[in-house]
Amino acid sequence: MILILDFGSQYTQLIARRVRELNVYCEIHPYNHLPEWSDDIKGVILSGSPCSVRDEGSPDIDIDFYSSKVPLLGVCYGAQLMAKKSGGNVLPSEIREYGRARLSKVDSHHDLLKEITLNSQVWMSHADTIASIPDKYEVIASTPSVNVAAFKLKNEPVYGIQFHPEVTHTTEGKTLLRNFVVHICGCSQDWTPDIFVETTVAELKAKLGNDKVVMGLSGGVDSSVAAMLIHKAIGKNLHCIFVDNGLLRKNEFASVLESYKHMGLNVKGVDASQRFYAALKGLTEPEQKRKAIGRAFIEVFDEEAHKIQDVKWLGQGTIYPDVIESVSVKGPSATIKSHHNVGGLPDKMKMKVVEPLNTLFKDEVRNVGRTLEIDPNILGRHPFPGPGLGIRILSEITAEKVRVLQEVDHIFVQGLKDHGLYDQVWQAGAMLTPIQAVGVMGDERTYENVVALRAVTSVDGMTADFCHLPYEFLGEISSEIINKVKGVNRVVYDISSKPPATIEWE
Ligand code: XMP
Repeated sequence: MILILDFGSQYTQLIARRVRELNVYCEIHPYNHLPEWSDDIKGVILSGSPCSVRDEGSPDIDIDFYSSKVPLLGVCYGAQLMAKKSGGNVLPSEIREYGRARLSKVDSHHDLLKEITLNSQVWMSHADTIASIPDKYEVIASTPSVNVAAFKLKNEPVYGIQFHPEVTHTTEGKTLLRNFVVHICGCSQDWTPDIFVETTVAELKAKLGNDKVVMGLSGGVDSSVAAMLIHKAIGKNLHCIFVDNGLLRKNEFASVLESYKHMGLNVKGVDASQRFYAALKGLTEPEQKRKAIGRAFIEVFDEEAHKIQDVKWLGQGTIYPDVIESVSVKGPSATIKSHHNVGGLPDKMKMKVVEPLNTLFKDEVRNVGRTLEIDPNILGRHPFPGPGLGIRILSEITAEKVRVLQEVDHIFVQGLKDHGLYDQVWQAGAMLTPIQAVGVMGDERTYENVVALRAVTSVDGMTADFCHLPYEFLGEISSEIINKVKGVNRVVYDISSKPPATIEWE
């Protein structure tokens, strides 16, 4: 295992992803919550940081403790910290070094730089620069403006690099990381989805024994994959509950329930639509809607769970980014929208929690899902928010408005699939605005609703850009919606990026 110590860089998760792409397991831990030492750790990577090592109180750790045990690689801030702590000099750069640079010197006989070529492109992003390093170190790579682009402790596997090997703009970054992780640290590249499934199922068997687990499914990738893993370990002792909150997509409840049954899951579908509509009556403010939906979900789930005797565990589809977020260097990030999911359930239900995916990134969850032969329609699905269409109707929610929006959404999403565009889009949906506009149909004046279509590209939903969908496609979809969906006479396309807009309108 590789231990990545995080000093708060925006790229830390990328380091972990690149290491895992090498089929080597790694974990990120914040520098201010260090884990206990374990002999499973074969190497340590120190991340970058938005801080400067010159600042008082900037992030610091006992580097010698780690370098005395295993090979060490400092990246950017990590490298500067190593240099400064051992007597080197770190100064503000005369020019801010940001962007592409080329290696003008490479000592490729060093293990870290094997197969790294002269002139290779590297990505720089730093305001400080290492002006000098102590004698016990040697410079092993430079760029025209950065002499100490990479350095090594003489005779020890301890390295610092000023550039970022984890970003794709560093064209040979992956080779460098492979050199470190595989050749220098000696990690074997055996962390594959098959192995993950095998070991996780064995661990779950040992942990859960004959206990019963209850789990809420959402139709999304994470809860479905988590449920299949638990199912493989304990079979019918996993009781799944899939709640229809009346805010799902058209036909979604029936089709997802069918897929789950096909997968062999012991799943109960609960139609609670009317209860959710009642809870939402009179509400227009987004956060109040979210809270009402969250509360109703917990009530329904709690009632259903109590019908099952002696349940000890609550299964959840938490994935690694959620875990990293909750223990990050800066603490949980400020809540912009209170994403509900099943937050609060474990406390209320006094159950132990089992989260088999809490070490995986999203793409890894999909790979595990493929290994488990989960329905590709579930694995390839766009994300869909827990409160569903409830936060895409920008006014009080009624069954009729849900029906209208389901029709619009269905035409849009089906259109994306039929035109082969679905997989190029990260998330798509429609918003029912409270605006009414004048139109003309035949000889009649109409006064009906405006709907907005939204399709974005993104990596993780934190930032997003609107999709540049072809105008012809948008035109076709717009006509189909206006012709087929009674109550809608105007369609607009949202061309805002996130930030400053968010993906959902509420
Ligand atoms: P925003 O609108 O914050 O959305 O840009 C980012 C991602 O989060 C989803 N989202 C939610 N998911 N409960 C959820 O489970 C929520 O309340 C919620 N609000 C937004 C959104 O669909 C997008 O994928």
